Amino acid sequence: MSKIKAKPFLKWAGGKSQLLSRFEAYFPSELKEGKFELYLEPFAGGGAVFFYIAQKYSLRYACLYDINKELILTYKVIQRDLDRLIEILMEYDKKYKRLNENDRKIFYYEVREEYNLKRHKVNYRRPSPLWVKRAGQLIFLNRTCYNGLFRVNREGEFNVPFGRYKNPKILDDENLKRVSFLLKKADIERADFSKVKTKVSANSFVYFDPPYKPISETASFTSYSKYIFDDKEQIRLASLYRELDRKGAKLMLSNSDPKNEDRENDFFDKLYEGYHIYRVDARRAINSNPAKRGNIKELIITNY
Ligand SMILES: C[S@@+](CC[C@H](N)C(=O)[O-])C[C@H]1O[C@@H](n2cnc3c(N)ncnc32)[C@H](O)[C@@H]1O
Repeated sequence: MSKIKAKPFLKWAGGKSQLLSRFEAYFPSELKEGKFELYLEPFAGGGAVFFYIAQKYSLRYACLYDINKELILTYKVIQRDLDRLIEILMEYDKKYKRLNENDRKIFYYEVREEYNLKRHKVNYRRPSPLWVKRAGQLIFLNRTCYNGLFRVNREGEFNVPFGRYKNPKILDDENLKRVSFLLKKADIERADFSKVKTKVSANSFVYFDPPYKPISETASFTSYSKYIFDDKEQIRLASLYRELDRKGAKLMLSNSDPKNEDRENDFFDKLYEGYHIYRVDARRAINSNPAKRGNIKELIITNY
């Protein structure tokens, strides 16, 4: 793990940092031999898997997609306009650290409000000076909000409350520089996962990390974006998986195992019948929720 220095610049729901050492054994041998022309990750999120793979193996090129436009905007700023972003975060850091807790809270909500108001003014397709400011705001909010997560309501407003941290790391310039360097060999786009089919060939490796299947129909998991990833979406994804398999690409997909909650639930077993389905230990060392300290598995599905 000593080679792995760049890590996600945002805390992101469903981030895979803690599972990487378990995933390692399931990566295709061609990855370790540096044989792939292209690595694709259509649910990039915080990028934990891409950063790991890009540092550990010799990747020629990567395509990273995600439906979340704020996330993609921030990736692009880090890729292309890092110095200015670092200046903005340095200013936030200085200002925030000088304030007492009450004033920090007031400042946090001011930034959050401006962030939400400006979302209608941003052209997410064309870079503008607003982008770097917005990326700075997102990183600041992510570092200082409660639980450090990105969550929006149905109107697309970022709605996470203030978090009480003594000394949040608002600017981690070393990490941002490493991340920016790795992103130089990536094409980053806001896109639906189906975009990968325009790029895939037999020399590609695709890692899919879709949003988890909710535990129940009523479980409201409104986190990354306004888009709901329901069973229909899982089915659409499985049919893309089969299509890419026919093109000869190597495919790996992970998801939380619905059998954690219901032993009879064979939704993914049926959907991915004919492929290799592994169940790996996904227990967190410390979990505040006693129900989750038990036998928690993550599914890994490969076509190799
Ligand atoms: C489980 S997270 C990925 C986490 C990532 N592997 C990491 O380690 O941080 C799932 C991601 O899928 C994205 N997403 C949801 N629906 C999507 C869609 N239709 N197409 C592409 N991305 C989508 C979400 O915005 C979210 O970032």
